[in-house]
Amino acid sequence: MINSSPIHHILFPENWPAYTLLDSGHGRKLEAFGPYRFIRPEAQALWAPFLDDSEWSHVDGIFASDRSDDNDEASDGRGRWQLSPALPESWEMSYEDLRFVAQPTPFRHLGFFPEQSPHWLWTADQIKAFRSRHQRAPRLLNLFAYSGLASLHAAQAGAEVTHLDASKKAVAQAFENRDLSALSDAPIRFITDDASRFVEREIRRGRHYDGIMLDPPKYGRGPKGEVWRLEEHLPDLLAGCRALLSDTPLLFIATIYAIRTSTSAVQSAVGDALAGMGGILQAGELAIREEREAGRAIGQALYVRWSGHETS
Ligand SMILES: C[S@@+](CC[C@H](N)C(=O)[O-])C[C@H]1O[C@@H](n2cnc3c(N)ncnc32)[C@H](O)[C@@H]1O
Repeated sequence: MINSSPIHHILFPENWPAYTLLDSGHGRKLEAFGPYRFIRPEAQALWAPFLDDSEWSHVDGIFASDRSDDNDEASDGRGRWQLSPALPESWEMSYEDLRFVAQPTPFRHLGFFPEQSPHWLWTADQIKAFRSRHQRAPRLLNLFAYSGLASLHAAQAGAEVTHLDASKKAVAQAFENRDLSALSDAPIRFITDDASRFVEREIRRGRHYDGIMLDPPKYGRGPKGEVWRLEEHLPDLLAGCRALLSDTPLLFIATIYAIRTSTSAVQSAVGDALAGMGGILQAGELAIREEREAGRAIGQALYVRWSGHETS
């Protein structure tokens, strides 16, 4: 039996001085990424801003979403940046021992997702516990792995990582981040492929992983035009991932940004896929919080994560 917690945990990035949610309100958020400030749309900011207008008027970039695309599943949050001429095309940021590139992308984000850092810390704890239990590195599979911060953090913590994304550009970004983080010799296998195809192939090859993490978008395409639709393809992918788990399973993390689903629904889907494995299933939101005391919280994604063993 899986012990499925009825409590939904809200996780926040911690000890990350280079990233700050400064304020939010009137459908926008004001954030600092390193020395630069940005305003991005935030539909959940259903309140008035706390800081003065003057704080909101000195920014390096503003993202305006393309409303005409809002119902287009392939638009993926597209819009336009208005950027200050003084802003460099990209700049370096850090989190713990990671070094990586920040840059405004057409998808409204800056090349990484700070709200995911609680998963990196949790995964690192799990990896360390696994290494002392089994005297070897756990093998992790990171699907839809994008610019690679979860892969790099896990490798730093002592895992062997297979990092997969459909986009050559995303994998190139992950390479650059690996080199910036001085992890060029780390045991990370980078693969450009369609997530579902790769999982099917790995099952046929009889491969297994001790941990799997996935961050699927609502809609995406594999390198050969394979279509990914969350609602349609998630059940098979979860079943495939289950088949790939080793007989020393360590962890499983699914993070979902798609809005028309709920934590409870994804918890049920992952719970079904992992039925009979024992362990502990947690679910909740990845959120960010305004920096001042009693700052307001904004959920960014929902997650479900499973662990074969309790570490804390
Ligand atoms: C940016 S991350 C997801 C972040 C967040 N979940 C979101 O929706 O904003 C999505 C990644 O999935 C990759 N991707 C999309 N379709 C894919 C597929 N069929 N197979 C593997 N990776 C895919 C994209 O290249 C991208 O790097």
